[in-house]
Amino acid sequence: MSTPSKLYEGKAKIVYATKNLQEYLTYFKDDATAFNALKKGTIMGKGEINCTISSALLNYLGSKGIKTHFLAQKSEREMLVKAVQIIPLEVVVRNIAAGSLCKQTTLPEGQKLPFPLVEFYLKNDDLGDPLLTVDRLNIMNIATVEQINQLKDNALKINQYLIEFFGSCDITLVDFKLEFGLDFEGNLLLADEISPDTCRLWDNLEQDTEKRVLDKDRFRRDLGKVESAYQQVQKRVLTQIEKLKNT
Ligand code: TMP
Ligand code: ASP
Repeated sequence: MSTPSKLYEGKAKIVYATKNLQEYLTYFKDDATAFNALKKGTIMGKGEINCTISSALLNYLGSKGIKTHFLAQKSEREMLVKAVQIIPLEVVVRNIAAGSLCKQTTLPEGQKLPFPLVEFYLKNDDLGDPLLTVDRLNIMNIATVEQINQLKDNALKINQYLIEFFGSCDITLVDFKLEFGLDFEGNLLLADEISPDTCRLWDNLEQDTEKRVLDKDRFRRDLGKVESAYQQVQKRVLTQIEKLKNT
């Protein structure tokens, strides 16, 4: 068998070309980074967990009519996806104040926001992924006004589906990051992953503010028990998917 050609290696994933020009194979690594890779580590089994959770959630969103790049989970760590050109934006949706929103404003952690906040960050490690304004986005020609509106509409719809889904898993969706891409026909597709790496997820069954954290903040903030938190999310997500299949 010939070695698959690597198209791109990021901090958490590797993207390979396939025989089909319109499909890529994504490999999920155990590597974890935070603070623009200033902090580096390994979360054992993360690749398998994130590939499995992302596959389940992208497939679920697809069933709700959201257009995504997901085609199939090929193995524990490999996802077959539609080839897209990634728009260099991190689209962040926030329901509750946490993370950089608390660092940059006077909002205290845990405060429920009056409406879901959609923010655009430039995907650029050298610049530290800065927060953009819509005008800056326009001037940089990263997306048209129509595409920006489409991104926002999509992000808000996805937020509603995910709030409901995670709610049925006894998990609060605090905030999350999405990436989108354009396929060969120019369709806007939800891409990348949705996992404890890219979401803040708080356990509704736990009162203690540190113990309730089920996401990458356990790694970012050295809270310990990172692997078991990721496993807990996987277990609840897969249980809920099974329940939905049987109803
Ligand atoms: P932030 O509060 O650090 O801006 O993060 C907002 C959300 O985006 C949070 O759920 C974590 C996620 N995120 C990523 O997926 N990748 C990143 O590089 C960053 C900074 C945040
Ligand atoms: N993934 C990002 C990085 O290393 C940041 C984060 O998730 O906190 O740099």
